[in-house]
Amino acid sequence: MQEALTIGQLAARSGVAQSALRYYERLGLIRADRTGGNQRRYHRGELRRVAFIRIAQQVGISLDEIRAALDSLPASRTPTAEDWARLSTAWRERLEEKISLLVRLRDDLDGCIGCGCLSLRRCALYNPADELAGEGPGARLTLPR
Ligand code: FES
Repeated sequence: MQEALTIGQLAARSGVAQSALRYYERLGLIRADRTGGNQRRYHRGELRRVAFIRIAQQVGISLDEIRAALDSLPASRTPTAEDWARLSTAWRERLEEKISLLVRLRDDLDGCIGCGCLSLRRCALYNPADELAGEGPGARLTLPR
């Protein structure tokens, strides 16, 4: 394979540990050819796939979802700029939802600071939106569900 990268070169170029690259390969996120001596050789396009994976992970996308996104590309090719634009647009909405959730958690945490009650009745973090209240009065967790 011409211009192929060893795992050390891919790690150095991508800033991702070799162990993580092997893990990505086991999950089918990146691909390697093998030399006669069974050493991995990566096509240079795999650098772009690694960048795609790392950025998606930073956004909070799971590796399963990243694999599904990569598998959705024709012939599982390396993501193009257009692919990235399309997928990142879809993920932006997810990121907005996460931000909203974190803001709500932060605001709820403000009520817990210095409290320590850990009360099912009072603590918005322990019992968000009082989910069990809709099931009726009393200690719902002690009743059979
Ligand atoms: S710990 Fe008391 S309100 Fe959350």
